[in-house]
Amino acid sequence: MPAISCSAPGKIILCGEHAVVYGTPAIAVPVFQVSSTTRVFANPSNPESGVWISAPAIQLETSLSTLSPLHPLAATARLVIEKLNIHSIPACRIKVSSTIPTSAGLGSSASVSVSFVRALSTFLGHPLDDEMVNQIAFEIEKIHHKSPSGIDNTVVTFQHPVYFQIGKKVQILKVAQPFTIVIADSGLKSSTGDVVSGVRERWLSSKTFYDSCFDEIGKITNQIRETLEYGRIEHIGSYLVKNHELLKQIGVSIPALDHLVEVAMLNGALGAKLSGSGGGGNMIALVNEDTSESVSEALKSSGAVNTIITHIS
Ligand code: MEV
Repeated sequence: MPAISCSAPGKIILCGEHAVVYGTPAIAVPVFQVSSTTRVFANPSNPESGVWISAPAIQLETSLSTLSPLHPLAATARLVIEKLNIHSIPACRIKVSSTIPTSAGLGSSASVSVSFVRALSTFLGHPLDDEMVNQIAFEIEKIHHKSPSGIDNTVVTFQHPVYFQIGKKVQILKVAQPFTIVIADSGLKSSTGDVVSGVRERWLSSKTFYDSCFDEIGKITNQIRETLEYGRIEHIGSYLVKNHELLKQIGVSIPALDHLVEVAMLNGALGAKLSGSGGGGNMIALVNEDTSESVSEALKSSGAVNTIITHIS
């Protein structure tokens, strides 16, 4: 029997991270240059062998039955079989691989959940629809990141630019004019859950200040949305810079990210900001197509460990 294979992209947050956890909108876009893939190989000749999971990137090589029920992959498998109302998974080998750097703000955990749910449900003969895939991936994001907004699993599931707000139906954005982003990795790992918890602690002791920052970020997101849909892309640049300043004010940037933002701007980017939780991870720069290579090179020679040039349409 041929293997079932499903892939899911990575993602970046264009604007609105952190504030989105407090109810304002944010925009995220998929990044197809990185992805996770889950393959399921049936093992019908040995029906007693159970379900074997291997994920070399996290040194996981184990049978599903011995994995803690709280492990994200075990929890994902349980939610899939619960949704499908079946009792067990036929003997198989599940292999998870990913080119998405972990703890870097590129949606690695959400991507693995989405590819895993799609591959396993397809193997079981009932591929789950996007809504179900998204719901399960959100449950698993809570294991990874404590109290996420749900934007990462949503953009990775739907694989289009999304305008996301907690409690509202996700809106797929139509981008009027394709644009180019350089993504640069600071090389510093950061836990989204910890950074989000840190913001919450500070918010609890300075609510007025933090709420006003979140409010400003929400307004910027709406301006960016309007520009994406109807306007001239280059006008987004200054909004990205304002968004970065506000992220600095809520304490989630670090000198390495500020430096990369500055380098991008000095080398002709139209705008730049950290992307994702901050505290490390990636920053993004909006560029003209003809400056993408030079901005990317400048970022690499100023400390970025990797860059990705991605076109968004
Ligand atoms: C992480 O990609 C974005 C954050 O806003 C957290 C979340 O929304 O779950 C920092």
